[in-house]
Amino acid sequence: MDKHETTRPPTPQLGVNTLEPYWMPFTGNRHFKQNPRLLAAASGMYYTSDDGRKILDGCAGLWCVNAGHGRAEITEAIRRQAGEMDYAPSFQLGHPIAFELASRITANLPGDLDHVFYCNSGSEAVDTALKIALAYHQAKGDHRRTRLIGRERGYHGVGFGGISVGGIVGNRRAFASALLPQVDHLPHTHDLAKNAFSRGQPEHGAQFAEALEQLCALHDPATIAAVIVEPVAGSTGVLVPPKGYLEALRRICDKHGILLIFDEVITGFGRLGAPFAAEYFGVLPDLMTVAKGLTNAAVPMGAVFARKPIYEAFMQGPENAIELFHGYTYSGHPLACAAALAAIEIHRREDLAGRARAISGYWADAIHSLRDARHVIDLRNLGLIGAIELAPRPGAANARAFEAFLECFRRGLLIRVTGDTIALSPPLIVEKPEIDRMVETIRTVLAAIS
Ligand SMILES: Cc1ncc(COP(=O)(O)O)c(C=O)c1O
Repeated sequence: MDKHETTRPPTPQLGVNTLEPYWMPFTGNRHFKQNPRLLAAASGMYYTSDDGRKILDGCAGLWCVNAGHGRAEITEAIRRQAGEMDYAPSFQLGHPIAFELASRITANLPGDLDHVFYCNSGSEAVDTALKIALAYHQAKGDHRRTRLIGRERGYHGVGFGGISVGGIVGNRRAFASALLPQVDHLPHTHDLAKNAFSRGQPEHGAQFAEALEQLCALHDPATIAAVIVEPVAGSTGVLVPPKGYLEALRRICDKHGILLIFDEVITGFGRLGAPFAAEYFGVLPDLMTVAKGLTNAAVPMGAVFARKPIYEAFMQGPENAIELFHGYTYSGHPLACAAALAAIEIHRREDLAGRARAISGYWADAIHSLRDARHVIDLRNLGLIGAIELAPRPGAANARAFEAFLECFRRGLLIRVTGDTIALSPPLIVEKPEIDRMVETIRTVLAAIS
């Protein structure tokens, strides 16, 4: 019997009442606990649900299991490291594997991105990058540069820094009183009227970057420390940057001495068919945040990559002084480092970015074959990312996509929905028949739901 077909009885202790104590993240807790969806095992392109059903993974877990599930080398590396040294502090001490990982990662980064600061998640990576940006200008004596610029509809995790520069209204509303001061936002780049059904990068919208010049005029560019954007906005529903947009942001940042931060938590590690979006678009940021695919999600880990002049700006003053008052108990955790080293080796050996690039044309065709499917008002794609935007149900925004999610899950396909958009990002090992199955399931489900 195929490993995925193993039928397991539902876990007995998970009766409805025992679901109660777990306060689930980004979940309708009451709805979920009425009708739970439980995943019990994972291998390759598939999850196995608690009741033994095979679920095709259309979103690499949560945009993170880029090399596919259950990679034996990663599991083994974690096991070995746990046996050798479970934990070591990274404040005023080090351990070899953290340095080895830093050397391995930075050897393959674009441009002079040549230093890495470790943390444990994308949210921490974002807050770390914002703090590095602010502290960098201070270290250079440029004390006026204290302002941060994000973008409408941006998602940069859930720390106070991340939600402040982020632009997803629902993630900010309840915390409005505690958002960082001195933050402003660029407009988002979604222009359905001009760009609907664009294949790859949309033609229209490079001018949205010019809004940065307007913010510079409004605030005085000498007060702006950094601009942070996702090269491809993911969690808001996949917004692909218009042609020329990121290049224009880079140009304006250079003109005014503003740091550019790319949040590559989703786009990093092969998702676009290049190791990083910076390489895909040929635009080099000053700081880059990553997480998710870094360890193939097997152990939580995030990181910030910094260009040489940024690191060097901090390396001044007395030799024994701490240069950056920032770090986490689990920065460079040995198990995470072991998982990341193993994941990087899989990426190298299997050329996962190349694989994603090779199949991205088939992927684009498959996504755009849904043009005539029911409810669809836009389709977007880049690399191995796809988005299917649905017309909202009158008076019930987001309900239609959520229903599609439930129905796909029932039929053995895991999709992700955000607002009324279905976002797809399969593991980079996906094969054509699996792509076909995803698209056909979605077509059938869209036909079935009202
Ligand atoms: C672009 C981006 N930044 C930051 C984050 C936050 O990452 P985490 O959930 O690991 O904190 C995410 C998560 O989806 C993300 O997509």
